[in-house]
Amino acid sequence: MKRIGVLTSGGDCPGLNAVLRGVVRGATSLGWEVMGFRDGFEGLLPDGGDCFVLTLANTEGIMRLGGTILGTTSKGHFIAKVGDGTHRQRVSPAILEQTRRTLATLGVEALICIGGDGSLATAEELHQAGVPVIGVPKTIDNDLDATATTFGFDSAVACVADALDRLHTTASSHKRVMVMEVMGRHAGWIALHGGLAGGADLILIPEIPFDHERVAEAVRQRDADGCLSSLIVVAEGAFRRTGQEQVRSLSSGEYQMGGAGAVVADEVGRRTGKEVRTCVLGHLQRGGAPSPLDRILGMQFGLQSVELIAAGKFGEMVSYQNSEVGSVSIASAVRRTKLVSPQNQIVRTCRAMGISFGD
Ligand code: F6P
Repeated sequence: MKRIGVLTSGGDCPGLNAVLRGVVRGATSLGWEVMGFRDGFEGLLPDGGDCFVLTLANTEGIMRLGGTILGTTSKGHFIAKVGDGTHRQRVSPAILEQTRRTLATLGVEALICIGGDGSLATAEELHQAGVPVIGVPKTIDNDLDATATTFGFDSAVACVADALDRLHTTASSHKRVMVMEVMGRHAGWIALHGGLAGGADLILIPEIPFDHERVAEAVRQRDADGCLSSLIVVAEGAFRRTGQEQVRSLSSGEYQMGGAGAVVADEVGRRTGKEVRTCVLGHLQRGGAPSPLDRILGMQFGLQSVELIAAGKFGEMVSYQNSEVGSVSIASAVRRTKLVSPQNQIVRTCRAMGISFGD
């Protein structure tokens, strides 16, 4: 029997368990055994690995669960991205050697790495070091190049839209401005799609730097039109034309973002004289049951990763393009972040719907 390994790395997101289910079902049908490593790449480090066999029985019923039954980490010995994410750190030769030893001891012939751009950069390093690796893209941010979408994004967008629906009623009852900060790091995809679906009046994203006065003007104009409450969605990475991103902590690894919503709220209140309240949606966007679309994508990605192993296509990443699940090289996928183009069709739809970007 062939034995393969799988791990989930980086921030969790809805749909990871659906991928694991797809991997186990696909591998089992080929007569292979699946070893699940705990807490991302860290599970490769103890002698003999920190792992257990994933079976049809212990992956039964997991698809509807958020998070990952394997556990994950965005810290540790394999971290690839630091600071603003453009700085890459390499895995040490000793850690690479230990990884090879663990896989050889366990007889694991191929490793499926499910992760975002940082984790996939690590997977590419392992591939370069001779480890037979397959990548599966994961991120709620939707910022991975070389795949049209990833599982997790749809669930995060649904969470944003639901939160805006809730904020809408309280905002209109009190005739207030509600500012909601959402995730996405340097990309505005979650803010853009969630904001449009949830009826936001203004959407501020990193790709379209805003101006506080333009934001205030849009709120005043809404008042003049008789719309006395406003919903403003602020991507955590949004910044004004003459400013920069709000960074909350510069501890190890990639820096934590946050605070952009509060800055916008202060300025809107000061410039319009309206009552303003802020809501930071935070990790609610990463939790909960995956949407049906994310479950389907997750299972397809899991099955495809097994097929790539069967075809010996190591160093490839599962990718979704033109409504088909296929693959591209991991190296091509981690080369650059996929950002929102200001000419993007959804941006144009927003503008046509009267949504302001504060620019
Ligand atoms: O990359 C996914 C993401 O959810 C970002 O949108 C967010 O900035 C970050 O992870 C939060 O990470 P952490 O779980 O470390 O707070």
